[in-house]
Amino acid sequence: MKTRILMVCLGNICRSPLAEGILHSKLNSKDFYIDSAGTGGYHIGSAPDSRSVAVANKYTIDISQQRCRKFTPQDFEDFDIIYVMDYSNYQNVVKLADNQAQKNKVKLLLSETSLKEKEVPDPYYDDNGFEYVFELIDNACNVIAQKLTVADHGK
Ligand code: 4NP
Repeated sequence: MKTRILMVCLGNICRSPLAEGILHSKLNSKDFYIDSAGTGGYHIGSAPDSRSVAVANKYTIDISQQRCRKFTPQDFEDFDIIYVMDYSNYQNVVKLADNQAQKNKVKLLLSETSLKEKEVPDPYYDDNGFEYVFELIDNACNVIAQKLTVADHGK
């Protein structure tokens, strides 16, 4: 059984597609399934924002084939861990949970790091924010991939 990880932001076009692509690049597809979704439904079916595609490309990660979808309560059953980018995403996801076990699956992505930043800022209105967002997410995904790979080998 694969470990299933869902990355969540508001639009599912800027941050969570990057998080999906970055974590996917660090884990093997045989043991891990990574996906992303947004709590808002503004861009369903769209490709990621071109600025996210560009910064990912710079680090040889292709996220251009991803398509935006909305988070649904079924995701609590379909995923083992749900990483959110900011506190607002956290509130939006947790309010859809039915029980504590579902709430316990939801974590702030940067809580995995020792960074002073707690949230991945929304770069949608900031052309210069994408590189910084990439760095924050990459830092967290390094920690996550390390932890999960060690845990997986212990199975
Ligand atoms: P994301 O950024 O949550 O990182 O995908 C956003 C993208 C679009 C919008 C908001 C945030 N929007 O309002 O359309």
